[in-house]
Amino acid sequence: MRITFFATKSYDKDSFDQIKEEYPDLELEYWETELSPKTASYVKDSEAICAFVSSDVGTKTIEALKDRGVKLILMRCAGFNNVDLEAATRCGIQVMRVPGYSPEAVAEHAMALALAVNRKIHKAYIRVRENNFSLQGLTGANFYEKTAGIIGTGKIGAAMARICHGFGMKVIGYDQYPNPGLDFVEYVTLDELLGRSDLISLHCPLTEETHHLICSDTIAKMKQGVVLVNTSRGGLVKTEDLIAGIREHIFLGVGLDVYEEETQNVYENREDDILMHSTTARLLSFPNVIVTSHQAFLTEEALHAISRVTLDNAKAFLDGKKSGTELN
Ligand code: NAI
Repeated sequence: MRITFFATKSYDKDSFDQIKEEYPDLELEYWETELSPKTASYVKDSEAICAFVSSDVGTKTIEALKDRGVKLILMRCAGFNNVDLEAATRCGIQVMRVPGYSPEAVAEHAMALALAVNRKIHKAYIRVRENNFSLQGLTGANFYEKTAGIIGTGKIGAAMARICHGFGMKVIGYDQYPNPGLDFVEYVTLDELLGRSDLISLHCPLTEETHHLICSDTIAKMKQGVVLVNTSRGGLVKTEDLIAGIREHIFLGVGLDVYEEETQNVYENREDDILMHSTTARLLSFPNVIVTSHQAFLTEEALHAISRVTLDNAKAFLDGKKSGTELN
């Protein structure tokens, strides 16, 4: 079975190439282009395609893939809010993903962002490089004995909760399904979490219910001087309201690995016009905000797990077996 990969980066190719010999029934074709309704129509002689979190796997793309004879969509990521599962089912296309390939990779990046904005590492780095050893304006706050609020205590949220616990923080959580493995976490209502937390880290998926979970109403309930971290999905935060909250000095710092405009590929397009007017660019203008480019998953261990599970998924599909990672 031939698999056409979309949005392939060199690190993807490297990690898939390392193990592809172990899957003699699979032929991998790497395309750098991103998946869209247009590029889907270029697929040829591939029963499967492999897409990523940034890909457009909406209705039109899926219909175009069906016309090209595609039977399997392999998401090489955990999140799937960009996939129209109903359309896939209607078109007879199986969708599979890689759930929880390395929750620690994402959680460690979340803590890295929290620490960096709190201890102003981004400012200190630039200052010292310019031979300025002044400490003025670099005062942070201890996380030790402070309260960490984890919204969504699944695989990544649990890993973040363990890290915060290890820092000596009091850990509180909000989730409709409390994680039985986290006996040190106190589950509270969302309002209580917002009001008590010194660090809030978002780890729930993007759904209709969680869209703009962080908005002016919820920001108004937060403690003054809170650190907010989002490594989950940009749509959880209403950017305009976040900007207003930053301007009102609610936040000690904000660390974002994901942001609403990601799907428009603002930075990859490098169109100055888009950049100038983008809310992401406005966020970047605040000294207490750090933005990274959806890199929380990017560790050797995670890439290895992603390539292994993706090819195992393809093989299971080919052999007519269930892998447990099917989404429809
Ligand atoms: P998971 O499915 O293990 O955990 C999600 C948790 O959120 C579950 O416990 C669920 O009950 C909870 N939840 C659902 N709706 C909620 C709501 N309305 N309020 C509070 N909690 C709610 O998922 P996992 O693996 O922990 O991933 C979480 C998210 O992290 C993914 O959905 C994805 O968006 C994001 N992610 C980001 C990556 C990055 O590189 N930045 C990489 C991988 C995932």
